[in-house]
Amino acid sequence: MALNEIRGRLALITGASGGIGAACSHQLAQHGVHLALTYSTNSTSISDLVADLQPRYAEKHLRISIHKVDVGSADQIENLFQEIDSHHGQRPDILISNAGYGKRISNIWDIPLEEFDYMLNVNLRASFILVQGVVEHMKAQRWGRIVFMSSIAASGGGINGCHYAASKGGLTGMMKNLSTRLAEYNISVNDVAPAMIGDTGMVTNASAIPETVATIPLGRLGTPEETAHVVTMLVTTGYMTGQSLLLSGGLK
Ligand SMILES: NC(=O)c1ccc[n+]([C@@H]2O[C@H](COP(=O)([O-])OP(=O)(O)OC[C@H]3O[C@@H](n4cnc5c(N)ncnc54)[C@H](OP(=O)(O)O)[C@@H]3O)[C@@H](O)[C@H]2O)c1
Repeated sequence: MALNEIRGRLALITGASGGIGAACSHQLAQHGVHLALTYSTNSTSISDLVADLQPRYAEKHLRISIHKVDVGSADQIENLFQEIDSHHGQRPDILISNAGYGKRISNIWDIPLEEFDYMLNVNLRASFILVQGVVEHMKAQRWGRIVFMSSIAASGGGINGCHYAASKGGLTGMMKNLSTRLAEYNISVNDVAPAMIGDTGMVTNASAIPETVATIPLGRLGTPEETAHVVTMLVTTGYMTGQSLLLSGGLK
């Protein structure tokens, strides 16, 4: 049974201090998954999350570690894996590469080259480095689950600029390639492509952007919990691989 299959596994969730990452942390903890959680700047949010998780799932005796990492830095990701090795004694079985940077600059003529490079480092290159850090362990045990957090922007939609679209489109391309190369090791690779998820740093709430919410066919923002449901489905459904799942309330 797939839910039993993830109990006792270790998941690395990047960007757990944010709305979607925190919701994923709750759902995987609920299923008895040990957690290595990262944040970049928001130490209060990650401390509050862990203070909530520990008592709530106490009977599951979970190991939960917190790591400060800027995923735009390869050195800091290397350091993250050293911390995980010493805290958990193993590399992650599940990778949720969710941390993302989304400073909104709509027009190409306003996007400095440095901003393009930084966004690609955080949103795309980091996932490449993270997969390199987990893949040997997953191959050796012939079990692994990898989920990238893409965006509706990967297919050209959304409210951000072309640099964000390029970073998320790159993630989906990398996901599709990896899914075919890693299938023989029983490693699934998928992405979730959300749009307009509220209660997040990227989209705070509907009242801040009523005219945008009016364009969503379902007439409301999505929730971090709904996004986490899709992630949980992917990590518990090993036969699904190579898929980018649009979660957008009907937006195209
Ligand atoms: N919300 C949406 O509508 C939406 C739509 C499409 C895609 N997404 C994607 O969903 C993912 C999660 O975002 P969210 O919506 O939950 O927004 P959020 O609440 O702003 O969370 C973003 C997370 O990414 C982390 N982060 C940002 N820059 C980082 C860096 N350089 N290194 C390490 N971590 C970094 C943040 O850490 P700190 O806060 O600790 O700095 C935070 O944990 C992102 O990849 C985003 O692109 C969101």
